[in-house]
Amino acid sequence: MEILQNSSYPTEQVAFAERVNQLLKDKLDHRPKACVVTYGCQQNVSDSERLKGMLCLCGYEMTEQTDEADLILSNTCAVRGHAEDRVYGNVGALKHLKRRNPNLIIGVCGCMAQQQIVVDRFKKSFRYVDMVFGTQVQHRLPEMIYRVLQGEHVYETSLPNDSIVEDVPVRRDGEVKGWLPIMNGCNNFCTYCIVPYVRGRERSREPEAVLQEAREMIAAGYKEIMLLGQNVNSYGKGEAHGVNFAKLLRQINAIEGDFRIRFMTSHPKDCTTEVLDAMRDCEKVAKHLHLPFQSGSDRILKQMNRHYDRAGYLNLIKEARERMPQLAITSDIIVGFPGETYEDFCETLSLVRSVEFTSLFTFIYSPREGTPAARMDDPVSRAEKGKWFNELLKTQEAVTSKTLQAAVGSTQRVLVEGCADTSGFLVGHTDGNLSVEFAADESLLNQLCTVKITSYDGILRGEYISK
Ligand code: SAH
Ligand code: SF4
Ligand code: F3S
Repeated sequence: MEILQNSSYPTEQVAFAERVNQLLKDKLDHRPKACVVTYGCQQNVSDSERLKGMLCLCGYEMTEQTDEADLILSNTCAVRGHAEDRVYGNVGALKHLKRRNPNLIIGVCGCMAQQQIVVDRFKKSFRYVDMVFGTQVQHRLPEMIYRVLQGEHVYETSLPNDSIVEDVPVRRDGEVKGWLPIMNGCNNFCTYCIVPYVRGRERSREPEAVLQEAREMIAAGYKEIMLLGQNVNSYGKGEAHGVNFAKLLRQINAIEGDFRIRFMTSHPKDCTTEVLDAMRDCEKVAKHLHLPFQSGSDRILKQMNRHYDRAGYLNLIKEARERMPQLAITSDIIVGFPGETYEDFCETLSLVRSVEFTSLFTFIYSPREGTPAARMDDPVSRAEKGKWFNELLKTQEAVTSKTLQAAVGSTQRVLVEGCADTSGFLVGHTDGNLSVEFAADESLLNQLCTVKITSYDGILRGEYISK
């Protein structure tokens, strides 16, 4: 891993990385290995690619195996209780590795590490964890490893809300599909959500930095670029450069090359007709919109502080489909928000039936300490919420097979990602992220091509048309 000339990655971190390289050489009789374990959303997956980049700069080679690693870093998620419980369990299980290898460095970072209550628990009950650091100081990883190697316990959990540090070295996991973070943080404070507290205020990257990274990825052969942010539609808000999300999409679309652009997540309140027009006009932008609505009940949407209502959401869907008849729409839903009644939940069900989403990400409400919803009355039992949840899954199952059937006969852009189990068949994903199998030559691997969907028998099958 090398730092490019003119990089704005802080020189003191590069110097720390050099010192870590040397210290590890002196200390270990082999090339050091590091393992990064990632929990949570794509933002975290993308952050982990930068953590890996910095680890490589420090001289580490990456491994997937915790038991052969000299450094294990868990990049955590705090969005639901279940995610946190998994981290406590898995980090707890690392204790025996540390006993076997006292040189092992164990770190915990990411969204959980930004909560005081979590940090206190690590300080008290997980003494063998050498470093705990939050989302906004992770670019200082070389310095933190250096301090651990000097015998320190490192706890860096402030949330300075500084601007995003550019040019952090990155070691990407994939070679065809890549993440491109365009912003960080969130200003929306939906009442159930911990993200604004653990990621800080919304900050957008400079358009030129985003475009430069996109150009580099395309030159390196990436065929799909996923633009990431908690609320991409508010990209650039309040910035002097005047490039909003719609303009950014058009600028990335104008980069030469055969590639596809995706983005997530869109918040309905900021999804403007200007964004929908840009999606329609830009041939490289996948006709897929992930537009979480969370609840179909106006009363609950208000309590969630979502700033739109059911009618507004449905109108947005209508406007989007008018512009892009083949648009695939997916969404997120929370079941059992505090005070939600079965009648409220039925409004969610009816919205699911009427919109016909390609697929859904559904969650049972999980109280997050420090958020307003955690202090609201929550009389419905977990068991009851579980029943509603199953009803929702069943409803969507029927909708999903209907939308898959409806895709038969359509012509789609497909990114070929692998070979199917049946020989001579390839598998790829459409714009709407539907998996499709079709017969074609292996030379099409990792390429975009046009496929006609011909049948559905549990799997979508198609016929290769052209490149
Ligand atoms: N920024 C994105 C979502 C980020 S979190 C957006 O606004 O759409 C991803 C999803 O997790 C959310 O859409 C929501 O459905 C779910 N979620 C967030 N907090 C939750 C909680 N406390 N309990 C259950 N689900 C939650
Ligand atoms: Fe959480 Fe709402 Fe921000 Fe999404 S928009 S990250 S749900 S606060
Ligand atoms: Fe989880 Fe943090 Fe993402 S809380 S969902 S990893 S922004």
